[in-house]
Amino acid sequence: MALYSETVMDHFRNPRNVGVIEDADGVGEVGNAKCGDIMKIYLKIRDDVIEDVKFETFGCGSAIASSSMATEMIKGRPLSEALALTNQAVAQALDGLPAHKLHCSVLAEEAIKKAVQDYYERQGVDYDKSLFPACDSCDHGCCHSH
Ligand code: FES
Repeated sequence: MALYSETVMDHFRNPRNVGVIEDADGVGEVGNAKCGDIMKIYLKIRDDVIEDVKFETFGCGSAIASSSMATEMIKGRPLSEALALTNQAVAQALDGLPAHKLHCSVLAEEAIKKAVQDYYERQGVDYDKSLFPACDSCDHGCCHSH
C-alpha cells in the first residue's frame, strides 16, 4: 500500500484555499516545536458562519494536505462546526495519514480553534475558554504566538 492516499496527494499537489485574507476577522497560528512546521489560518466570519477561509502552511506535505482539507470542511459552515472539527475527522477525510504523520493534522485542528478564539477575543464575546487548548499547560509546544 502506498504511504499516502490519493486524497492526500491530491490536496498536497493542489491545495485548496491557500493564501491570506487581509481583513480577516480571526487569525490563528500554531507551530510544532519538534518539526518546526507552522500553520496560519485566516477566517472571514459573518453571522457566526465562516464565509471564507485561507491558510498559509510552512510545513510538510501532510500538514499542507491537512490544512487544505480542513479549510474545505469548515468553509460555509457555522463556527460551532469548525470548533467541533477534530484532527481525526481531517485525517479520515484524507483517507488516512500514516501514524507518524497524524500530528500534522493536529496542527490544522489547533490553528482553526485559535482563529475562532481570536475572533471571539476581537469581538469581546464571552466564550467558554475550556473549549480551547490551554496553551500554558499543554506539552505539545505547539502555540508560540501569545
Ligand atoms: Fe511537522 Fe508534518 S512533520 S506538521
